Order: sequence, then structure tokens, then C-alpha cells
Amino acid sequence: MWEKDEYLQFMYERLLIMRELLADTGSIFLHCDWHKNAHLRLILDEIFGEENLRNEIVWHYHDKFATGGKSLDKNHDTIYHYSKSADFTGNEVRIQKEETTKRALRKKVDGKTVNLLDEDGNKIYAEYSDKVIDDVWDIGRTISKNEYVDYPTQKKEELLERVIRYGSNEGDLVLDCFVGSGTTCAVAQKLNRRWLGCDINKGSIISTTERLNRTIKEQMKENLFGKDFKGFTAFKVYNVNHYDVFNNDLQARQLLIETYRIDELSRGDFDGTLGQDYVKIISPNRVLSKMDIAEIIDAIKKNKDLFTVKTASKQKENTFENKVVVICSGAELDVRDFAKKENKTGVEIEIRDIQTDKKELDFKKPTEASISYITKGKTLSVEVKDYYSPLLMKRLELENDGRLSMKERVNIFDYRQAIEHIVIDVNYGEGQKKADTSFNAEAFLHKEKKGELVETAYSHTYERGGTYTVAVKIVDVLGEEYFETHEITVK
Ligand SMILES: C[S@@+](CC[C@H](N)C(=O)[O-])C[C@H]1O[C@@H](n2cnc3c(N)ncnc32)[C@H](O)[C@@H]1O
Repeated sequence: MWEKDEYLQFMYERLLIMRELLADTGSIFLHCDWHKNAHLRLILDEIFGEENLRNEIVWHYHDKFATGGKSLDKNHDTIYHYSKSADFTGNEVRIQKEETTKRALRKKVDGKTVNLLDEDGNKIYAEYSDKVIDDVWDIGRTISKNEYVDYPTQKKEELLERVIRYGSNEGDLVLDCFVGSGTTCAVAQKLNRRWLGCDINKGSIISTTERLNRTIKEQMKENLFGKDFKGFTAFKVYNVNHYDVFNNDLQARQLLIETYRIDELSRGDFDGTLGQDYVKIISPNRVLSKMDIAEIIDAIKKNKDLFTVKTASKQKENTFENKVVVICSGAELDVRDFAKKENKTGVEIEIRDIQTDKKELDFKKPTEASISYITKGKTLSVEVKDYYSPLLMKRLELENDGRLSMKERVNIFDYRQAIEHIVIDVNYGEGQKKADTSFNAEAFLHKEKKGELVETAYSHTYERGGTYTVAVKIVDVLGEEYFETHEITVK
């Protein structure tokens, strides 16, 4: 998808930020294949300094069949390890070997490695069933069934386990800024590290969220969140754009058409009309780019007869009565400037950004819930009695549009169908001091199987009487969240 050097520029900008964010004793591991590894290494050298290149790790996928041919099969990737400084975390990682080997014991004396000898001057041998890892990692690509999450670029946990064990300590913070299926975060969670993950793909966030919920739930079941636990006991999903509103491009388009009352056109270069103007809708899952503007200019030129001449000019281009309205969600910084300079058609291009032009939009109404809190002695019973998401209802309405029979229609008969999971913190605020997290989940109510309804009631008995803040978070099937806190007193 990248043109010429765009990819390298994209990586360069992000790697600069990664260096800024990295702890002084931190490391970055950049995974790439043969296409651009040479270019990326030079960029990394420039940003992190050649002297901070610790290793060029070769990930050899031994389970990939070599088909032969004139050029050899490409069966390895590269993982560049750079540290921010000479003082970095680099732990010894030992892995099991398939066969044990016998080796002479050695030690370092004055910088030289010498054999250890017994009283009679003979070498001392020992059997080794494990070894310290070096910079060639033989790790297969095949993902086992219990790890598989159906994400196209999923990495094996074994690979990330090695990186995380080697480059960080328990309690450290691990970031994967292209988190994909969430392997890095899941492994970090299991290894007692704190973590952050980001991805531009909504599917990635859903996969990762589900995977981490499962991981945390298993850890809870095994009672792993004791005093020594330095990781997170819960997490939060943040949206940095309005991508969450739009899962499906067609639905999103439909929402915009309805909201702006656009008369839809089923063919041609424009999506509809608004009065006498022509409308172009840009997928709200991405920002408006200069390329879009260039295409719109071409479309205007191609369809000049759709526009009514206001003033005819001999020297310059004519000006026109009607214009093109572009509806988008976010725009590249210089798009307006670009449109002004490049559009010499005489037809005005008006850009309406729904992120700033919110007055007509009503799809982002907050979710609602009704929750009861009943105390008896030291026991608190919490129950989610109702949940309502306007966005979900709107989606269903669109989905069902045109489906006449009840069988075809998707309906919500029980509010619990809309809920993906419920997380409850029975002593909210306390967790902040304890584990450096804002939410310390005591209960995680989750569907056991697809299609099942979530459990909505939970009881907790406090050890001591007092006043507590209870926090409840509901996450629905679209990833929308509801959050409330409630103060209770137990005797
Ligand atoms: C190779 S995959 C990551 C695989 C991941 N480590 C795993 O185990 O599944 C790359 C990811 O980068 C994401 N991505 C691409 N461009 C991005 C951007 N500008 N910001 C954030 N994520 C991006 C893609 O959506 C994709 O999930």
C-alpha cells in the first residue's frame, strides 16, 4: 500500500517517538523481513546510534518447508535489538534442548576462558539439557490451536516470550505499538509485566481485548494476583479516534447519509446530492487525504455538465453555482490548503469534517445502565439490571432494514445479549495505591461460550466494615463501555 519512500518516512517518524518514550534502560525490538530490513537498520542506526545496536536476531522458522528453486527459500526474519543506552536490561534466557550434551566446565580468568580441572588435572564434564539463547532463534511459525486467535499476522507466544524475558524485568512496562492479535500484551501479562498495546485496526483491538480478558480470567482462577504480582489485574481500552463508531463501512456511510439527509445517487462519481450540491463521502474509518481531493478534482472535470455556470470567464475558469461537499471524519493537516491550490475547476469544494461539525450528529449518545447495590452485614450484592446502547440499537435498525421476516431480523430480546462482559472493583481507588492501576477487578463476569448470556449478579463479603467505593464497568458486544461508581457502607 505504500508509495516509494512513504513507508520509510512513516517508520522513521514512529521510531523517533518510540525512542522518546523508551526508558533509559529500555530496548526496542523491531521485527521485519528481507524487503526493507537494510533500510530500517540504517534508520535505527540514525535514531538509536550504531553503538546501541545490540543484536541482529535471526528468527529462523524451522517448520517452513523449503521448496527449492534457483534462489533459496526465504525462511527467516530479522529482529533488530537496539537499546537506548549502554545500561540496558538484558537477562540470561535459557531454553530446553532436545538432547542433552556433555561439555567441559569453563570459567573466565583474566578475561580468558579456561577449562576447570579436577585435582588430577583432568577436565570436568557436565551434562546440559538447556542452553543460553544466542542470536539465532529457531522458532516455528505454526500456531497451536489453543493460542490461535484468527488474526492474519499473529505471532507465536514463544517468540514474544523470549523477547520479553530477555529485554525486561517483572513489573516493567512493555509496549507493542502494532499489537495485531495481542500476543505481546498477552505474554507480558502472563510474565508479570505491565503493558500497552495500540493498533489502527478495530479487529485487532477486539481480538486483543478478548484474549487479554481470557488471560486475566485464567490468572484470577489460578489465584495469581497475590502480593508478588507486579502486572495489571485489569485494563482499559481507549479510542484515539472515532473509529469505534464505524465497524462497517457501508453502515457508516448510511449513518452519514441519514444524518445529513443526503439524497443518495446509486451510480456516478458522487455519492449523493444535497440540494443542488454534489456530495462525496469519505470512509469515516480513515482521514481525508490529498489523494481524495485529487480524485474529486478529476471527478469534477469529468462531470462538468452537472455544475451550473455562475459567471463565465474568458481568461480564467468559469465559476459555478453549485459545489461539491466532502464529508469526512478527520483530515490530513494540509488538505484544505491543497484543495485551495490544486482545485482550478471553478467548482468550490467544501470540506465538512464530522469530528468538528458535530451539531447534526447524534450517533454517539452515551450508554445507559441500571445497577442495584444491596448490602447485608458485610456482604454486598451487585446486579446489572438493565443495559442500553443507542449505538447498538442504531446498528440493528440499519442491519434489519429491508429484512421483512422475523427470522431474518436480528433482535435483542434480553439486555444481557448486548453485554460482552462486566468488571467489578469492590474497593475502587484502593487499587490505585496497591497495584498502580485505576481499576482492580475483583470480579470479571464473562460469557463462557459464544451465544451464552453473561452472568449479571455478583456478591462480595468484606473483611472489615466501612465505606467503600464500588466501580462497575460494562463492555458491550460493540466494545462500547459504561462505567459508574457507587458508594456503599457495610457494618
Ligand atoms: C504484523 S502485524 C502485528 C502482529 C502482532 N505482533 C501479532 O502478534 O499479532 C502489524 C499490525 O500493525 C497495525 N498497524 C498498521 N498501521 C498502523 C498504524 N499506523 N498505527 C497502529 N497500528 C498499525 C496493523 O493493523 C497490524 O495489526
